[in-house]
Amino acid sequence: AAPGPLAGMNALVTSGPTYEAIDPVRFIGNRSSGKQGHAIAAALAAAGASTTLVSGPTAEPDPAGCKVIHIESASEMLAAAQGALPADIAICAAAVADWRPAQLANQKMKKREGGEPPRIELATNPDILATLSAPGPQRPRLVIGFAAETERVAEFAQAKRRKKQCDWILANDVSPATGTFGGAENEVHFITASGAESWPRLTKRALATRLVDRIAQHFGKSVA
Ligand code: C5P
Repeated sequence: AAPGPLAGMNALVTSGPTYEAIDPVRFIGNRSSGKQGHAIAAALAAAGASTTLVSGPTAEPDPAGCKVIHIESASEMLAAAQGALPADIAICAAAVADWRPAQLANQKMKKREGGEPPRIELATNPDILATLSAPGPQRPRLVIGFAAETERVAEFAQAKRRKKQCDWILANDVSPATGTFGGAENEVHFITASGAESWPRLTKRALATRLVDRIAQHFGKSVA
């Protein structure tokens, strides 16, 4: 790993969407470009952390200096994330599908002339952020999540932080007018146990750098 304020530390980042297979050709998924998660992984690696990026399917290139594990489903993402432990820092930026089809069809489901559409029963996916945040010997020292809200953003995000037991949350307003989804910029509230700060509108890259500076500060490492 590169020299830098986070040299000697291990970091884990999740990014992108998950795809939950219905059959060999169809899936349920979330919209996520992976831009923010990938930018965070790149910034952690540039700051010297040994960084594992667990990524769902995205159009983003693998960031320099990271170990990248490509997965598709939430279950695979959880297994890869747990396999990357122990880590000092975990950042969950992935847009994980909340549900998956309860049964996976082994063959492509056929359309039948005049037939009823299939009914897809759903099962609940594991919550990767909550799982990593749960107290235990493997818990990373600093666990960070994201929250996308459309109203009362800071308040709902603080409640989410407590519920998931993570340390920090970056909360953004994803109302359609903000253009955050798939865009190059992000505007977040930075939520910790001691309160909320509003960060200015930043490119996703600049936000990643600011977050990594904050992490270095948290661990008492100087930022060059
Ligand atoms: O509950 P919600 O989806 O709003 O929480 C968002 C945060 O939780 C993000 O950090 C996301 O990466 C994480 N998450 C997760 N696994 C899930 C659902 C969300 O890691 N199944």
